[in-house]
Amino acid sequence: MSEPVAVLAIDGPGGAGKSTVAALVARLLGMRRLDTGALYRAVTAAVLHEGIAPDDAESCGDVAARVHIALSDGRVSVDGRDVTTEVRGAEVTAAVAMVSAHPRVRRALVEHQRELAARGGWVVEGRDIGTVVFPDAALKVYLTASPSVRARRRAREIGETDLDRVESEIRRRDTADSTRPDSPLRPADDAVTVVTDDLTADEVAAEIATLWRHRWDQSGRTWTTRTEG
Ligand code: DC
Repeated sequence: MSEPVAVLAIDGPGGAGKSTVAALVARLLGMRRLDTGALYRAVTAAVLHEGIAPDDAESCGDVAARVHIALSDGRVSVDGRDVTTEVRGAEVTAAVAMVSAHPRVRRALVEHQRELAARGGWVVEGRDIGTVVFPDAALKVYLTASPSVRARRRAREIGETDLDRVESEIRRRDTADSTRPDSPLRPADDAVTVVTDDLTADEVAAEIATLWRHRWDQSGRTWTTRTEG
């Protein structure tokens, strides 16, 4: 068996609370946080900006291999263009499941994620972190919640009042993410599943931090943290 790496993987469907929980857990444990959804969203913003069709696998793959994405202090930029607001907008949200299903897009971004976080000390959130990107992550958590609860949270987050619309968008993305042939969304065999319907983000984060302390801190292992941003 390979040595575990100091990565805390958090996977799960949209609206399960991954981003909020990952930020809280990272703060509790003094780790850094990588939102891999933001990488897929950034590539999608670049694809739309260049007028490329989201179903054009080859051109989307070229974009993913070529662009430079920077994530820092909650801001996202692609080749120096700030796309922080755009990546959360309706256009990117509608196209991202299709763009992120292309194998060449995934290959480029998986490599990027491994380079960033391989030295450990990272909380990495996404859809395939425990299954594909870091199969040796020391702790894998699969966060989930019922579609109606996830829709309510997402609606609050984006200021949308039409709950049915948000829920059907969430269900559409769930289906796209979990049925794509390359790296479908699913819990890793050794993931701990946490259902967040009746828990606050603080409660979920505290539970995950406790799991990490048992798994990692008590193993006596350490990690090397990169010094640059
Ligand atoms: O978590 P999010 O809503 O920002 O993710 C946006 C999209 O990116 C989602 O539809 C699936 C995709 N994604 C992915 O395929 N793999 C990841 N590791 C993270 C996100």
